[in-house]
Amino acid sequence: MRVSELFDLTGQVALITGASSGLGWRFAQVLARQGANVVLAARRTERLETLKAEIEAVGGQAHCVALDVADRDAITAAFDEAEKVFGTVTLLVNNAGMAIQKMATDMSDEEYRRLMSVNTDAVWYCSQEASKRMIAAGTPGSIINVASVLGLRVAQSLSVYAISKAAVAQMTKALAVELARYKIRVNGFAPGYIRTEINQAFLDSPASAAMIKNVPQRRFGEPSDLDGTLLLMASEKASGFMTGEIIVVDGGQSLPIV
Ligand SMILES: NC(=O)c1ccc[n+]([C@@H]2O[C@H](COP(=O)([O-])OP(=O)(O)OC[C@H]3O[C@@H](n4cnc5c(N)ncnc54)[C@H](OP(=O)(O)O)[C@@H]3O)[C@@H](O)[C@H]2O)c1
Repeated sequence: MRVSELFDLTGQVALITGASSGLGWRFAQVLARQGANVVLAARRTERLETLKAEIEAVGGQAHCVALDVADRDAITAAFDEAEKVFGTVTLLVNNAGMAIQKMATDMSDEEYRRLMSVNTDAVWYCSQEASKRMIAAGTPGSIINVASVLGLRVAQSLSVYAISKAAVAQMTKALAVELARYKIRVNGFAPGYIRTEINQAFLDSPASAAMIKNVPQRRFGEPSDLDGTLLLMASEKASGFMTGEIIVVDGGQSLPIV
Protein backbone atom coordinates (compact mmCIF):
# COMPACT_ATOMS: atom_id res chain seq x y z
CA MET A 1 0.00 0.00 0.00
CA ARG A 2 1.29 3.46 -0.87
CA VAL A 3 1.80 5.89 2.00
CA SER A 4 -0.77 8.27 0.50
CA GLU A 5 -3.40 5.48 0.68
CA LEU A 6 -2.42 4.63 4.26
CA PHE A 7 -3.71 8.00 5.46
CA ASP A 8 -6.60 8.43 3.03
CA LEU A 9 -9.80 9.33 4.90
CA THR A 10 -12.19 9.47 1.97
CA GLY A 11 -15.69 8.41 3.09
CA GLN A 12 -15.06 9.25 6.75
CA VAL A 13 -17.24 11.74 8.62
CA ALA A 14 -15.24 13.59 11.25
CA LEU A 15 -16.73 15.72 14.01
CA ILE A 16 -14.20 18.00 15.72
CA THR A 17 -15.19 19.78 18.93
CA GLY A 18 -13.51 23.12 19.58
CA ALA A 19 -12.76 23.58 15.88
CA SER A 20 -12.92 27.37 16.13
CA SER A 21 -9.26 27.86 17.10
CA GLY A 22 -5.88 26.34 17.86
CA LEU A 23 -5.54 22.57 17.60
CA GLY A 24 -9.15 21.93 16.58
CA TRP A 25 -8.86 24.36 13.66
CA ARG A 26 -5.72 22.60 12.46
CA PHE A 27 -7.17 19.09 13.00
CA ALA A 28 -10.19 19.97 10.83
CA GLN A 29 -7.96 21.25 8.02
CA VAL A 30 -5.74 18.16 8.12
CA LEU A 31 -8.62 15.66 8.20
CA ALA A 32 -10.45 17.48 5.38
CA ARG A 33 -7.30 17.53 3.25
CA GLN A 34 -7.13 13.73 3.58
CA GLY A 35 -10.68 13.42 2.25
CA ALA A 36 -12.87 13.33 5.37
CA ASN A 37 -16.11 15.31 5.43
CA VAL A 38 -15.67 17.48 8.52
CA VAL A 39 -18.25 18.77 10.98
CA LEU A 40 -16.88 21.84 12.73
CA ALA A 41 -18.31 22.26 16.24
CA ALA A 42 -17.79 25.13 18.70
CA ARG A 43 -19.59 28.10 20.24
CA ARG A 44 -17.97 30.79 18.05
CA THR A 45 -19.76 29.92 14.80
CA GLU A 46 -18.50 32.96 12.90
CA ARG A 47 -15.00 31.51 13.17
CA LEU A 48 -16.28 28.13 12.04
CA GLU A 49 -17.76 29.73 8.92
CA THR A 50 -14.33 31.18 8.08
CA LEU A 51 -12.73 27.76 8.50
CA LYS A 52 -15.46 26.10 6.41
CA ALA A 53 -14.77 28.59 3.59
CA GLU A 54 -11.02 27.84 3.80
CA ILE A 55 -11.64 24.10 3.63
CA GLU A 56 -14.09 24.39 0.73
CA ALA A 57 -11.71 26.68 -1.16
CA VAL A 58 -9.25 23.80 -1.47
CA GLY A 59 -11.90 21.24 -2.43
CA GLY A 60 -12.91 19.90 1.01
CA GLN A 61 -16.37 19.36 2.49
CA ALA A 62 -17.31 21.01 5.80
CA HIS A 63 -20.40 21.80 7.85
CA CYS A 64 -20.60 24.10 10.88
CA VAL A 65 -22.59 23.30 14.00
CA ALA A 66 -23.05 25.55 17.04
CA LEU A 67 -22.10 23.55 20.11
CA ASP A 68 -21.44 24.34 23.74
CA VAL A 69 -20.05 21.00 24.93
CA ALA A 70 -21.22 21.78 28.47
CA ASP A 71 -24.80 21.45 27.21
CA ARG A 72 -25.71 17.73 27.10
CA ASP A 73 -28.77 18.22 24.86
CA ALA A 74 -26.76 20.31 22.42
CA ILE A 75 -24.36 17.37 21.97
CA THR A 76 -27.20 15.11 20.83
CA ALA A 77 -28.50 17.84 18.53
CA ALA A 78 -25.03 18.34 17.01
CA PHE A 79 -24.71 14.64 16.21
CA ASP A 80 -28.24 14.62 14.75
CA GLU A 81 -27.30 17.52 12.50
CA ALA A 82 -23.98 15.96 11.47
CA GLU A 83 -25.74 12.73 10.61
CA LYS A 84 -28.37 14.52 8.54
CA VAL A 85 -25.74 16.36 6.51
CA PHE A 86 -22.96 13.76 6.02
CA GLY A 87 -24.16 10.48 7.60
CA THR A 88 -22.91 8.66 10.72
CA VAL A 89 -19.91 10.28 12.40
CA THR A 90 -17.08 7.74 12.12
CA LEU A 91 -14.27 9.89 13.45
CA LEU A 92 -14.74 11.94 16.62
CA VAL A 93 -12.05 14.32 17.81
CA ASN A 94 -12.76 15.33 21.42
CA ASN A 95 -10.69 18.49 21.36
CA ALA A 96 -12.71 21.28 23.07
CA GLY A 97 -11.05 22.27 26.30
CA MET A 98 -10.27 25.08 28.68
CA ALA A 99 -7.83 25.84 31.48
CA ILE A 100 -8.14 27.78 34.73
CA GLN A 101 -4.82 28.58 36.37
CA LYS A 102 -5.37 28.88 40.13
CA MET A 103 -4.19 27.25 43.32
CA ALA A 104 -6.64 24.57 44.49
CA THR A 105 -7.54 26.60 47.58
CA ASP A 106 -8.61 29.55 45.39
CA MET A 107 -10.75 27.55 42.97
CA SER A 108 -14.51 28.14 43.36
CA ASP A 109 -17.05 25.33 43.10
CA GLU A 110 -18.38 26.90 39.90
CA GLU A 111 -14.92 27.02 38.30
CA TYR A 112 -14.23 23.41 39.27
CA ARG A 113 -17.55 22.23 37.80
CA ARG A 114 -17.17 24.28 34.62
CA LEU A 115 -13.70 22.91 33.94
CA MET A 116 -14.67 19.30 34.60
CA SER A 117 -17.81 19.72 32.51
CA VAL A 118 -15.95 21.01 29.43
CA ASN A 119 -12.74 18.96 29.69
CA THR A 120 -14.05 15.64 31.01
CA ASP A 121 -17.85 15.25 31.04
CA ALA A 122 -18.14 16.42 27.42
CA VAL A 123 -15.58 13.86 26.27
CA TRP A 124 -17.69 11.17 27.93
CA TYR A 125 -20.99 12.36 26.45
CA CYS A 126 -19.59 12.91 22.94
CA SER A 127 -17.87 9.51 23.00
CA GLN A 128 -21.06 7.82 24.18
CA GLU A 129 -23.13 9.61 21.55
CA ALA A 130 -20.67 8.78 18.76
CA SER A 131 -20.14 5.15 19.73
CA LYS A 132 -23.87 4.36 20.15
CA ARG A 133 -24.53 5.76 16.67
CA MET A 134 -21.60 3.87 15.10
CA ILE A 135 -22.78 0.65 16.72
CA ALA A 136 -26.36 1.20 15.51
CA ALA A 137 -25.10 1.89 11.98
CA GLY A 138 -22.74 -1.11 12.12
CA THR A 139 -19.78 1.03 11.11
CA PRO A 140 -16.25 0.92 12.51
CA GLY A 141 -14.65 4.16 13.63
CA SER A 142 -12.11 6.06 15.64
CA ILE A 143 -12.37 8.32 18.67
CA ILE A 144 -9.43 10.63 19.32
CA ASN A 145 -9.19 12.40 22.67
CA VAL A 146 -7.03 15.41 23.37
CA ALA A 147 -5.63 14.82 26.85
CA SER A 148 -2.38 16.54 27.93
CA VAL A 149 0.98 15.79 29.48
CA LEU A 150 -0.77 17.29 32.50
CA GLY A 151 -3.04 14.25 32.46
CA LEU A 152 0.06 12.15 33.13
CA ARG A 153 2.06 14.58 35.29
CA VAL A 154 1.00 17.53 37.46
CA ALA A 155 1.88 21.22 37.77
CA GLN A 156 1.25 23.88 40.36
CA SER A 157 -1.86 26.03 39.83
CA LEU A 158 -3.22 23.59 37.25
CA SER A 159 -4.58 20.91 39.55
CA VAL A 160 -8.14 20.75 38.21
CA TYR A 161 -6.91 20.88 34.63
CA ALA A 162 -4.57 17.96 35.39
CA ILE A 163 -7.38 16.01 37.08
CA SER A 164 -9.71 16.63 34.13
CA LYS A 165 -7.10 15.39 31.63
CA ALA A 166 -6.09 12.37 33.73
CA ALA A 167 -9.74 11.33 33.58
CA VAL A 168 -9.63 11.68 29.78
CA ALA A 169 -6.53 9.46 29.63
CA GLN A 170 -8.26 6.75 31.70
CA MET A 171 -11.48 7.16 29.70
CA THR A 172 -9.48 6.54 26.51
CA LYS A 173 -8.26 3.19 27.84
CA ALA A 174 -11.53 2.11 29.44
CA LEU A 175 -13.60 2.88 26.33
CA ALA A 176 -10.98 1.26 24.08
CA VAL A 177 -11.57 -2.04 25.89
CA GLU A 178 -15.37 -1.84 25.69
CA LEU A 179 -15.61 -0.57 22.10
CA ALA A 180 -13.00 -2.87 20.51
CA ARG A 181 -15.69 -5.51 19.86
CA TYR A 182 -17.48 -2.99 17.63
CA LYS A 183 -14.27 -2.12 15.71
CA ILE A 184 -14.22 1.33 17.28
CA ARG A 185 -10.73 2.39 18.30
CA VAL A 186 -10.12 4.98 21.02
CA ASN A 187 -6.76 6.72 21.25
CA GLY A 188 -5.51 10.07 22.47
CA PHE A 189 -2.84 12.75 22.47
CA ALA A 190 -0.92 14.03 25.42
CA PRO A 191 0.50 17.24 23.98
CA GLY A 192 3.03 19.39 25.78
CA TYR A 193 3.00 23.16 25.24
CA ILE A 194 1.65 23.91 21.78
CA ARG A 195 1.29 27.57 20.81
CA THR A 196 -2.48 28.40 20.75
CA GLU A 197 -4.89 30.86 22.39
CA ILE A 198 -5.19 28.68 25.50
CA ASN A 199 -1.60 29.51 26.54
CA GLN A 200 -0.79 32.60 24.48
CA ALA A 201 -0.48 34.90 27.51
CA PHE A 202 1.83 32.46 29.29
CA LEU A 203 3.98 31.69 26.25
CA ASP A 204 4.45 35.42 25.64
CA SER A 205 5.46 36.04 29.27
CA PRO A 206 9.00 35.99 30.76
CA ALA A 207 8.04 32.85 32.74
CA SER A 208 7.93 30.87 29.51
CA ALA A 209 11.61 31.64 28.81
CA ALA A 210 12.49 29.72 31.97
CA MET A 211 10.10 26.92 31.08
CA ILE A 212 11.62 26.40 27.63
CA LYS A 213 14.89 25.38 29.29
CA ASN A 214 13.03 22.30 30.55
CA VAL A 215 12.11 21.24 27.03
CA PRO A 216 14.91 19.08 25.56
CA GLN A 217 14.07 20.34 22.05
CA ARG A 218 14.25 23.95 23.41
CA ARG A 219 11.03 25.01 21.73
CA PHE A 220 7.28 24.95 22.21
CA GLY A 221 5.20 23.08 19.66
CA GLU A 222 3.08 24.40 16.82
CA PRO A 223 -0.33 22.87 15.96
CA SER A 224 1.26 21.34 12.83
CA ASP A 225 3.52 19.26 15.11
CA LEU A 226 0.46 17.06 15.77
CA ASP A 227 -0.47 16.41 12.12
CA GLY A 228 1.23 13.02 11.78
CA THR A 229 0.02 11.68 15.11
CA LEU A 230 -3.54 12.78 14.31
CA LEU A 231 -3.54 10.95 10.98
CA LEU A 232 -1.97 7.86 12.51
CA MET A 233 -4.80 7.61 15.06
CA ALA A 234 -7.50 8.58 12.54
CA SER A 235 -6.68 6.04 9.87
CA GLU A 236 -7.83 2.45 10.30
CA LYS A 237 -5.37 1.45 7.58
CA ALA A 238 -2.46 3.07 9.44
CA SER A 239 -3.23 2.00 13.02
CA GLY A 240 -6.01 -0.60 12.88
CA PHE A 241 -4.42 -2.71 15.65
CA MET A 242 -3.75 0.27 17.96
CA THR A 243 -6.29 1.21 20.60
CA GLY A 244 -6.21 2.68 24.11
CA GLU A 245 -2.94 4.50 23.44
CA ILE A 246 -2.07 7.96 24.68
CA ILE A 247 0.70 9.40 22.53
CA VAL A 248 2.90 12.04 24.13
CA VAL A 249 3.97 14.86 21.78
CA ASP A 250 5.96 17.34 23.87
CA GLY A 251 9.49 17.79 22.52
CA GLY A 252 10.68 15.54 25.35
CA GLN A 253 9.52 17.89 28.12
CA SER A 254 7.99 15.23 30.34
CA LEU A 255 10.99 12.85 30.14
CA PRO A 256 13.65 14.16 32.56
CA ILE A 257 13.19 13.65 36.30
CA VAL A 258 14.72 17.12 36.94
N1 LIG B 1 -2.15 24.20 23.45
C1 LIG B 1 -1.57 23.39 24.33
O1 LIG B 1 -0.43 23.61 24.75
C2 LIG B 1 -2.31 22.16 24.79
C3 LIG B 1 -1.56 21.18 25.46
C4 LIG B 1 -2.22 20.04 25.90
C5 LIG B 1 -3.57 19.89 25.67
N2 LIG B 1 -4.27 20.89 25.02
C6 LIG B 1 -5.68 20.67 24.81
O2 LIG B 1 -5.95 20.87 23.43
C7 LIG B 1 -7.33 21.20 23.27
C8 LIG B 1 -7.44 22.38 22.33
O3 LIG B 1 -6.90 23.52 22.96
P1 LIG B 1 -6.13 24.65 22.17
O4 LIG B 1 -4.73 24.64 22.65
O5 LIG B 1 -6.40 24.57 20.74
O6 LIG B 1 -6.81 25.94 22.81
P2 LIG B 1 -7.76 27.06 22.20
O7 LIG B 1 -7.13 27.68 21.00
O8 LIG B 1 -8.11 27.94 23.35
O9 LIG B 1 -9.04 26.25 21.71
C9 LIG B 1 -9.96 25.70 22.59
C10 LIG B 1 -11.17 25.31 21.79
O10 LIG B 1 -12.11 24.70 22.67
C11 LIG B 1 -13.36 25.24 22.42
N3 LIG B 1 -14.21 25.25 23.60
C12 LIG B 1 -13.92 25.71 24.84
N4 LIG B 1 -14.99 25.59 25.64
C13 LIG B 1 -15.96 25.06 24.87
C14 LIG B 1 -17.31 24.71 25.10
N5 LIG B 1 -17.90 24.89 26.29
N6 LIG B 1 -18.03 24.18 24.10
C15 LIG B 1 -17.47 24.00 22.88
N7 LIG B 1 -16.20 24.31 22.59
C16 LIG B 1 -15.48 24.84 23.58
C17 LIG B 1 -13.14 26.64 21.91
O11 LIG B 1 -14.22 27.00 21.04
P3 LIG B 1 -15.35 28.11 21.38
O12 LIG B 1 -14.78 29.04 22.39
O13 LIG B 1 -15.61 28.76 20.04
O14 LIG B 1 -16.51 27.32 21.83
C18 LIG B 1 -11.85 26.50 21.13
O15 LIG B 1 -12.13 26.17 19.79
C19 LIG B 1 -7.87 21.44 24.67
O16 LIG B 1 -8.56 20.30 25.12
C20 LIG B 1 -6.61 21.65 25.49
O17 LIG B 1 -6.80 21.33 26.85
C21 LIG B 1 -3.67 22.01 24.58
